[in-house]
Amino acid sequence: MKKLEDLFEHQIKDLYSAETQLIDALPKMAKAANDKKLKKAFEDHLEETKKQKERLEKVCDELGIKPGGETCKAMKGLIKEAEGFIEEDASKEVRDAGLIAEAQRVEHYEISGYGTAVRYAKELGHDKIVTLLQATLDEEYAADDKLNDMAEDRLNKKAKK
Ligand SMILES: [Fe+2]
Repeated sequence: MKKLEDLFEHQIKDLYSAETQLIDALPKMAKAANDKKLKKAFEDHLEETKKQKERLEKVCDELGIKPGGETCKAMKGLIKEAEGFIEEDASKEVRDAGLIAEAQRVEHYEISGYGTAVRYAKELGHDKIVTLLQATLDEEYAADDKLNDMAEDRLNKKAKK
């Protein structure tokens, strides 16, 4: 990698791997969730994540590159941790609170990744790509807020009892 453009392409492939892995993991998290709204939040985010993956395919089309070839090791680790948690012996209330914690780690990671990608796209003058990536970044922020609200309003209190 010699230029910012190369680094940008590398980051896009990394995000593509992250979203692909998350598409496999979210159904497991939805299945493990007890609270109906939390289950629905995971299912909704799965649909959103599929669209985000498609956006990255569009980004790759724009850049004239193939999206595959990278494995996002950080997402692999985050998912491994979430799957490990699901196997823990926990009450359903504690499981829900813990699932939110695991999901928020994932969202924060993605927010960081897309935040950087948007910044690089701006710097490189890829205006169309900025719009695509910003749409996903906004969705990741919204997903994180939603999880935060669920934890604060109800699910942490239920787990406390
Ligand atoms: Fe995502």
